[in-house]
Amino acid sequence: MKAEIQTNKIVVLSGSGISAESGIPTFRDANGLWHNYSWEAVASPSGWQAHPEVVLEFYNERRLQAAEAQPNAAHLALAELESAYEVVVITQNVDDLHERAGSSNVIHVHGQLNHARGTSEARRRYRIDAAPIQLGQLCEDGTQLRPDIVWFGEDVEYLEESRRHIATAAKVLVVGTSLTVFPAASLVRAARGRAEKILVALAMDKLPYGFRFMRGKASSIVPFLCQGWLAEHQNRNLYPDSDKHAS
Ligand code: APR
Repeated sequence: MKAEIQTNKIVVLSGSGISAESGIPTFRDANGLWHNYSWEAVASPSGWQAHPEVVLEFYNERRLQAAEAQPNAAHLALAELESAYEVVVITQNVDDLHERAGSSNVIHVHGQLNHARGTSEARRRYRIDAAPIQLGQLCEDGTQLRPDIVWFGEDVEYLEESRRHIATAAKVLVVGTSLTVFPAASLVRAARGRAEKILVALAMDKLPYGFRFMRGKASSIVPFLCQGWLAEHQNRNLYPDSDKHAS
């Protein structure tokens, strides 16, 4: 049995493009991180084994950059949407701009820069905000602390929970992601046929089935969309029977 679609539920799947206008680089656009760094060297278990100091320095810099960045109009509009809808933000981003904008249901499937974790079975996590991680810093189990980031080849987190949210959403908004990294990109397939499905990006090679493509910057298109949805909610309250056919 498919789970019931919840009329008042909006699920957002975001990627680095939503934070681009806050000054945080994306990964694959011109001047993206993977044009300037080798992901094998800085974002893989083998890179960590070979040069942990290089990996720590890469994420220490990114952590500072994210801490200095401010949420933009797109982050703020999604937070404001919670005044009328149940909103769940599933993000591939490791910055905390959604939370700092005021979003209260944020799921990080690729980890968080403002946390560190041990490498023991227990995977102990520690909130570190903008602080650097140094070689020799150990968790309480005596293992070297590492960034709390999901590296290539490692298991993504909260995938089933994220799928369930998308499968019960009346509206699904995908913003600022190239949908090229799996399994996070496969989450769009959980969106229901009856759901309103919109994808916002500057460019999109392969538009997922059933999605409407809105080309442009998140900071202009997302507030516009959210305003429309807030008005729609208000109308639904003012004219509750408006969607019932006149008998
Ligand atoms: N507004 C909206 N979309 C934008 C903007 C903007 N201002 N700037 C860029 N974009 C879009 C681009 O068109 C592109 O589709 O954001 C997307 C960025 O794609 P990627 O660089 O591939 O980033 P992302 O999809 O977040 O990467 C997924 O890959 O490297 C790993 O773990 C990392 O979470 C990341 C994952």
